[in-house]
Amino acid sequence: MKIKLENCNKTYIKNGIKNHVLKDLSYEFEPSTFYAIMGESGSGKSTLINILAGLLKFDTGNLKFNNKIYHGDVEFSKLRLRSIGLVYQSYLLNEQMTAIENVMLPLYLNNDLAKKEKILLSQEKLKIVGLSNKVEHFPKELSGGEQQRVAVARALINNPEIILADEPTGNLDIKNEKDIFEMLKKESIEGKCVIVVSHNPFIKKYADKLLILENGELYEK
Ligand SMILES: Nc1ncnc2c1ncn2[C@@H]1O[C@H](COP(=O)(O)OP(=O)(O)OP(=O)(O)O)[C@@H](O)[C@H]1O
Ligand SMILES: [Mg+2]
Repeated sequence: MKIKLENCNKTYIKNGIKNHVLKDLSYEFEPSTFYAIMGESGSGKSTLINILAGLLKFDTGNLKFNNKIYHGDVEFSKLRLRSIGLVYQSYLLNEQMTAIENVMLPLYLNNDLAKKEKILLSQEKLKIVGLSNKVEHFPKELSGGEQQRVAVARALINNPEIILADEPTGNLDIKNEKDIFEMLKKESIEGKCVIVVSHNPFIKKYADKLLILENGELYEK
């Protein structure tokens, strides 16, 4: 699935002060590609990811998935649940749910899979991120890096065509970071459109396209 932003503008207004974060930004993200987005703190990377995920409204412009504009929250939620895997800068795990329940969450509305299959799939994903021994742990019983890995497993469980990750390795050591980047790379090789925000120059090794967000615009580097 392709994602296209056309002439997107986003301004935040706080206490009467305007911050024009995205300026007429146009870019088309293709399938089978690993995009790394870098840029200074405050340059708008999280804003961009949230817009692509349909979680944040922009002022003007268009957002298209395979050339289609999705209108309204209901239509967008369906698209998101089916086609977008999201990893946030803060992991946003459900505190009342164990690791495996968190991972399984996106499968909730999937009627093609039996409960048992959902559990197996979730166990498998947790194993891939190195957490087979923590499936019954609640987020507060996990380290920051472990929570982050649960969030990555959750993002991939639905086999989404688009994967958006905002600093998915911010709390990880080098070994775990490498594993996550490699996992995401594999997804892109398998055909997914993978968009990863990171401050870590290490990501360049994995990226097919390196994008810099600067002065409200995206530049290919
Ligand atoms: N809800 C908001 N209201 C007002 N200003 C906001 C809001 N959210 C973000 N901003 C501002 O918009 C700018 C871009 O924020 P954003 O979170 O997108 O940056 P970022 O590139 O992800 O930074 P970082 O690398 O630190 O995560 C920042 O200057 C921030 O202060
Ligand atoms: Mg950010």
